[in-house]
Amino acid sequence: MANQIAIFDTTLRDGEQTPGVNLNMQEKLEIARQLENLGVDVIEAGFPISSKGDFEGVRAVARQIRRPVIAALARAVKKDIDRAWEAVQEAARPRIHTFIATSDIHMKYKLRMEPDAVLRRAVEMVTYAKSLCPQVEFSPEDGSRTRPEFLYQVLEEVIRAGADVLNIPDTVGYSTPDEFGALIRGIQKNVKGIDNVVLSVHCHNDLGMAVANSLAAIENGARQIECTINGLGERAGNAALEELVMALRTRRDYYRFQTNIVTEQIYRTSSLVSSLTGVHVQPNKAIVGANAFAHESGIHQHGILTNRETYEIMTPESIGLKKSQMVLGKHSGRHAFEERLQELGYNHLTADDINEAFRKFKDLADKKKYVMDDDIEALISTELIQIPEAVQLEYYHISSGNSLIATSTVRLSREGSTVEEAACGDGPIDAIFHAVERATGLEVTLKDYRIRAITSGKDALGESTVKVEKDGKIYVGRGISTDIIEASAKAYINAINRMLYDVRENQNGQIETIETI
Ligand code: KIV
Ligand code: ZN
Repeated sequence: MANQIAIFDTTLRDGEQTPGVNLNMQEKLEIARQLENLGVDVIEAGFPISSKGDFEGVRAVARQIRRPVIAALARAVKKDIDRAWEAVQEAARPRIHTFIATSDIHMKYKLRMEPDAVLRRAVEMVTYAKSLCPQVEFSPEDGSRTRPEFLYQVLEEVIRAGADVLNIPDTVGYSTPDEFGALIRGIQKNVKGIDNVVLSVHCHNDLGMAVANSLAAIENGARQIECTINGLGERAGNAALEELVMALRTRRDYYRFQTNIVTEQIYRTSSLVSSLTGVHVQPNKAIVGANAFAHESGIHQHGILTNRETYEIMTPESIGLKKSQMVLGKHSGRHAFEERLQELGYNHLTADDINEAFRKFKDLADKKKYVMDDDIEALISTELIQIPEAVQLEYYHISSGNSLIATSTVRLSREGSTVEEAACGDGPIDAIFHAVERATGLEVTLKDYRIRAITSGKDALGESTVKVEKDGKIYVGRGISTDIIEASAKAYINAINRMLYDVRENQNGQIETIETI
C-alpha cells in the first residue's frame, strides 16, 4: 500500500549500542517477543560478527520469532556477511543489512579508501549478500553528509547488484528536517531503479531532530523508518518508535500514513525495554514518560474533566495505559490470578513461570492489602527473564541509624553451599552491598544505583536498579520488594548473577573488535 510505513526496529542492535546497555540472550528474546506483539515489520536483532553473545542472540531471535522480518547487520566485508547469514538463515524472513561509509570524511579518515574502491566494495558485497539471502538492505553510512552525486551513483549501482532496501542514515544526527526531506526527494528524482526498492531512513538524535527528520523523509518518499523503543541508541540515540508512530496516528489528518503498530502495546514495550536495559525514561519524555498524560495545573484539570480533548491530543488508553486497575488480595486463588494474567496479555508463560509468579504473588499479598495490576506486571517482569540464580539471598540483617555505623550481615547460598558475611558501610545499602561482595568473593564496581516506587500507596513495591562493571562490561540487576533494602540487595545479587551467566555463556569471548559505527 502506498500509504503504509514499515517500522524497522533496531532496539536490539543500535539500541544495544547505548553506553552501559548489555542484554543477554534471554533478554533479547523477551524484547523481540514483545516487538512482535507490538507489530513491528522488521526486527534488527544484532550485529553477529561483534561477539559470540550477539551472534547467539540473533540466531535465537531468528529461530523463535516468526512473523517479522529478522535482520542482521554486517559491514561490507565478506566474513561479516557470512556470520550475519549464519545467524539469520533460519528466520522465516531473513534479511542481511550491510553498510559502508560514503561521506568524504568517513572514507578518508575511517576507511582510508578512495571513493572508487568504496563503490566497488558496496557492489561486490551486496552481490555477495544477495547470493545468500533473499532480502538485502544497504546503508551508505553517514549518508546525509555524503556528496549527493556520489550517493546517487552508489545507490544506483547497489540497486543493480540486487539490494531490496536502501537505507539513508543521518549517522551523526546533523541534518535538519528541510535538508533531509530534500535529500530524500533528490534520491527519488535522480536514482534509476529507485521505484523498485524500498527507501528507508535511519536518523540519530544528536540535535533532537531524529523524529522530525524521519517524518520529513516520509513526506518525501521514505516508506521504511528505522527507530528504537524509548529512542535508545548510540550517543543521543535514534528516532523514538513511539513518538513516530503516535505522530502518524494522532496527525493522520496531516500525514495520511499508517503503520502496523498495535499502539496499545507501546507502554508495555517501553517499560520492558527500560527495565531490561536499566535506562530509565525521563518523566517528561513524549508518549511514554510518567508525566506524558499528567495534568498538574488547576485550569488544565478543569478542562480535562469537562472535555478530555481540551488538553489531551491522544488518550492514555491508546498507548496501553489502563483506565482502571483490577484488585486481587490474599484470598484470591490461583485461578483468579491466572485469569488476570491472561487478561493482561501474558499468554506465553510456562506452567513453571506461573507457579513461581503465583508464589511471589502470595508473598506480596501477605504484605500488601491490595495487589494491583501494576504489582502483577512488576512480578511477572522479574519472572520472564530467567537466568540461573547461581547466588541467592537467604537472609539479611541491617543495623543502622543516624548515630551508628551501618552494618549488615548476609547469608547467601552459592551452588549448594552457604556463606555468611558481615560488613560496615556508608548507610545500610552500602553495608549490604559490601557484605554481598565479601560473601561472593567477587569484586565489581558499582556504576549506578536507583530506587523508585513502581506502584502507588505507602505499601508500594520498590524497584531497585543496579549497574555494576566487571572487565569493562556493564551488568544491570533489578530487584523488587515492598522493603527497599531487600529490593536493593536483590538487584545487586541479580547483577552479579547476570555477570556469572555472561561469563559462562561467552567463554569464547569476543570474536573481533569492531570500530564504532
Ligand atoms: O547510524 C548509522 O549509520 C547506522 C548504520 C549501520 C545504519 O547505524
Ligand atoms: Zn545508527
